[in-house]
Amino acid sequence: MTVTPTGPGLRHTITLPDRSEHYARGMGALTERLGGRVAFGGDYNPEQWPESVWPEDVALMRQAGVNLVSLGIFSWALLEPGPGQYEFGWLDRIIDLLHEGGIAVDLANASATPPPWFSHRYPQSLLVDQNGGRRSYGGRQGFCPSSPEYRAAAAALTRAIVDRYASHPAVVMWHVHNEYGNHNWSCYCDISAAAFRTWLQRRYADLSEMNDAWGTTFWSQRYYDWPEVLPPRTPAYQTFANPAQQLDFARFSSDELLDCYRAEAALIRDRSPLPVTTNFMGFWKWMDYWRWSQEMDLVSNDHYRIAAMGSAGATHDLAMVADLTRSLADDAPWLLMEHSTSAVNWQPRNPAKAAGQMRRDSLTHVGRGADGALFFQWRASRAGAEKYHSAMLPHAGTGTQRWREVCDLGTDLQSLSAVTGSRTKVDIAIAFDWHAWWGVELDSHPSVAVDQMTAVRRWHRLLWEQGYTCDFVHPDRDLSAYRVVLVPGLYLCTDGAAANLAAFATGGGTVVVGYFSGIVDVDDHIRLGGYPGAFRDLLGVRSEEFSPLLADEGVTLEVASDLSATPRAAGSTWTELIGEVAPDVQVLATFVDRVYPGRPAVTRMAFPAGPAADSESARTAGAAWYLATELNSELLTELLTGACEAAGVSPVIDLPTWPIGFDAMVRQDDRTRYLFAVNHGTAGVPIPCTGTDLLTGKAWAEGTVLPPGQVAVVSSPLIGPA
Ligand code: GLA
Repeated sequence: MTVTPTGPGLRHTITLPDRSEHYARGMGALTERLGGRVAFGGDYNPEQWPESVWPEDVALMRQAGVNLVSLGIFSWALLEPGPGQYEFGWLDRIIDLLHEGGIAVDLANASATPPPWFSHRYPQSLLVDQNGGRRSYGGRQGFCPSSPEYRAAAAALTRAIVDRYASHPAVVMWHVHNEYGNHNWSCYCDISAAAFRTWLQRRYADLSEMNDAWGTTFWSQRYYDWPEVLPPRTPAYQTFANPAQQLDFARFSSDELLDCYRAEAALIRDRSPLPVTTNFMGFWKWMDYWRWSQEMDLVSNDHYRIAAMGSAGATHDLAMVADLTRSLADDAPWLLMEHSTSAVNWQPRNPAKAAGQMRRDSLTHVGRGADGALFFQWRASRAGAEKYHSAMLPHAGTGTQRWREVCDLGTDLQSLSAVTGSRTKVDIAIAFDWHAWWGVELDSHPSVAVDQMTAVRRWHRLLWEQGYTCDFVHPDRDLSAYRVVLVPGLYLCTDGAAANLAAFATGGGTVVVGYFSGIVDVDDHIRLGGYPGAFRDLLGVRSEEFSPLLADEGVTLEVASDLSATPRAAGSTWTELIGEVAPDVQVLATFVDRVYPGRPAVTRMAFPAGPAADSESARTAGAAWYLATELNSELLTELLTGACEAAGVSPVIDLPTWPIGFDAMVRQDDRTRYLFAVNHGTAGVPIPCTGTDLLTGKAWAEGTVLPPGQVAVVSSPLIGPA
């Protein structure tokens, strides 16, 4: 579908991806059951309270505008007090009560934490850590993902719950488990070891192929019989474990939990047509969410502000994680399953949210594609490890600022029904691959300072601070929807991804590659012939050697006027010896000092203009940039925004300079564009668009100032469809 937007801020024709079938089965189906409204509510744990409290809960939910609660997530111990004895009475009563109150239910299959009786009876089902210590029960999610007893009990419970409630009219979706891998992302027990071997036997034709992939000629590690193969039980403080073994174990561990999800989701789908999900945790290192997201009817995510990031850092993190979640959902609307109304309980220091922060946070998620904003949790707990976690209904009750803000947010979200189902079209993608993340953070590398998230976070943030929106994309996926693909760090790169990125650039796209990318293949073997092996031809550079910088060291750069008007800049973290550059490569910065004076630090390969993707959006000539050091923020910002501008990509709206603390995002459908403007800053921001602010219902005149702390959602009609 092609639409031609009008008004300032959007300059080019866009093509929206057609995800209608997936959307209809998942988030669309949920929204329909919610009467077209944005989902609002949270985790509800009624079992923590006397039944006499429940009618008040439902009445207050109605007052706040709650339309969806997640029920039963940690209820296994109450639902199955003994082996195979199910007690559903309390759950029947609360679901009926919620239904009478018009509140829909996201019903969990309660598999997240087995009861003490189960773990006591099957101690072999408890997780074993890398040092061989077996976990006890009394916390949560302490089971071994490969445990046959756990899997059988979780399956039986899932069947019992779904059989009982599949046709209850209050139930509108299924919540499998909870935050898979939060506390048990890998287990090193003997059962896991056997499962790991089975996984390896599927991956490799035979032991010899596995030996080759693991490079076991090194350090006398060759295996001659499958039973010899174990998880990497050697902790790094003893010696370095085989890196490919560690990498495969990370792959196995993500897949093993995904198998648990698949099995439970299949049981549900056999019995119910309702959408099935499990809640993700954003950039959670140990789960390959590209694989996981393919198994979701709708993608849902949990996000919490991290106080140690500082206010601006945490606000950026929110935007970045929302961008990831939208990307995992293939740019279709997604569900914010959890965030917090105020403080959490699990950080060393847990600040509350200032007045207005919760509203800005929730609406930012919606602006970045969420069609629901749910919280952990409805009523603040009185006992247990999370009693200091904020909730929609605080300990102090309804006569509180927090409660009033929650009710106001309910009203805000009701005014945004029109936004549901609309999409975001983004021209910039950040290539991101969990396997590269696992690979780059293995031990015995050139520098501990080179990790995955520092680079990804920095590049995303610098662009976000200038008003650009980025998607994330798996490097093997079709890139044709984008004009710019950023590769801040892709240490491990498949042959397919390397060819994909090269085709994108030679076809007219712009690629920007950061150092220590494209170094190894899928087995963590160095790509020989000069670094970065996967991108040598694309970038037209050949690097001979690395020299990472010490923590307090910098390197001076001489910068060409084509890149910046400032002739000197600073690098940190990394330098390398680029010996040769191809004839079409322009050297835009060189090292002045440290180990490689005079050698290139920033290069740019130009490609001739590629064929237009469609007749209306002529493509610019392609380009492939390489950054051989960590550039200071000013220069990196200049480089990234310059590369975007050259590729015809602009900030979300036209502002003379992007104000500090201002965030803006656009969603649209075939008739309407919704501009979400969120002002976390201290100065008013004039917004260059016209339309109606859905939050107030008032007209929005060109240049109306959005005051500090405020949010506007300006709806403007588009001319379309063309
Ligand atoms: C996670 C879990 C919830 C709760 C919250 C607290 O997101 O899913 O059960 O523990 O953290 O922030």
